Amino acid sequence: MSDIPRLEDLELRLGGLSGKRIFVRTDFNVPLVFVDDGTVVITDDFRIRAALPTIEWLTERGANVVCASHLGRPFADGWTEPNPKYSMGPVQARLAELAPDVELLENLRFDAGETGNSDEFVAQLIAGSDGKSIDGYVNDAFGASHRSHASIVGPPQHVPAAMGRLLEKEVQVLLGLRNKPKHPFVAVLGGAKVSDKLGVIGALLEIVDEIIIGGAMCFTFFAAQGKPVGASLHEPDQIDVCKALLAKAAELGKTIHLPDDITGVDAQGNFAQFGSRLGEGSIGYDIGPGSAAAFTDVIMDARMVFWNGPMGMFEDERFESGTRTVAQAMAETKAFTVVGGGDSAAALAKFCLDDEVDHVSTGGGASLELLENGDLPGLEALRNSQN
Ligand code: 3PG
Repeated sequence: MSDIPRLEDLELRLGGLSGKRIFVRTDFNVPLVFVDDGTVVITDDFRIRAALPTIEWLTERGANVVCASHLGRPFADGWTEPNPKYSMGPVQARLAELAPDVELLENLRFDAGETGNSDEFVAQLIAGSDGKSIDGYVNDAFGASHRSHASIVGPPQHVPAAMGRLLEKEVQVLLGLRNKPKHPFVAVLGGAKVSDKLGVIGALLEIVDEIIIGGAMCFTFFAAQGKPVGASLHEPDQIDVCKALLAKAAELGKTIHLPDDITGVDAQGNFAQFGSRLGEGSIGYDIGPGSAAAFTDVIMDARMVFWNGPMGMFEDERFESGTRTVAQAMAETKAFTVVGGGDSAAALAKFCLDDEVDHVSTGGGASLELLENGDLPGLEALRNSQN
């Protein structure tokens, strides 16, 4: 990480920052609620607040800061023109309250050249829309640094570049887990799809001592063990991969903890508790209380814990208990605790425990990819930048 330029290196390289135009790639991809009357509400401004240390460091030194981010996926759902509901307007309003006088460009993904990583779009970003070209580039968008998109990998090839404070902290914490683990090191993984996490499970098996698996992805593991999963969400095409992961864990002497009990609904749709075998028509939506207690013991005995993905459908109060119990264990354990973005960060916030863990990452996919590969396209671009 010492090979990645810091803000101080950029300042030195540019001979000071006063009057310099600095493009700051942020990840302001915040959760939004679209109200029927057309209003758009930001439900969590964590990612905007997380960029403030970098923005303030630059503005205090007289730089003209131009922030830019993506927001949502404006070409998804068959849109051939960018869907205007992903305009940066609401983010701009919140940013203006927190950091007045900082410019924010329109959603980078409104131009297909962003995700397509086109040279033309990179040239446009550097030239500036008002004819004022940028003098330097800062990447503070940890959550998007696993994407080889124009604004992440392009500018460092042309102008002096550095990582922002948020990116630096994220990389330091996550690579710390990967490269200097304290044992017992436990990974807690959840979420719906095991196919999203296969790479990281394989990589984590090499690093951690124990992996706890909850969320709907446990059903694909149950199926790999030959257990009936009822009508629960699972991925039949991943069963063999799960078998291989269970075999790899056994070979390496690592433990994969799966739930012993499940909470859900029976074939008639009534709330029900099950063991780890679900009958026809039954659907599991959460780990059961026995498993939540057992997982708590594992977390309490750990010296390092990384958590990514909820244990169940915590948005529904009937099925929040497993995720709440794990979140409480994360808050109470003496272990060094890191929560990897996305839904698990949202769950911590829902249970008001976000200040009780050591680090909440702003990146879901990015934190998994950094743990898996030890590097990200955005970091590589900074390492090779024009400094
Ligand atoms: C995220 O929310 O994980 C990042 O902002 C990346 O967004 P993306 O998955 O749409 O690239």
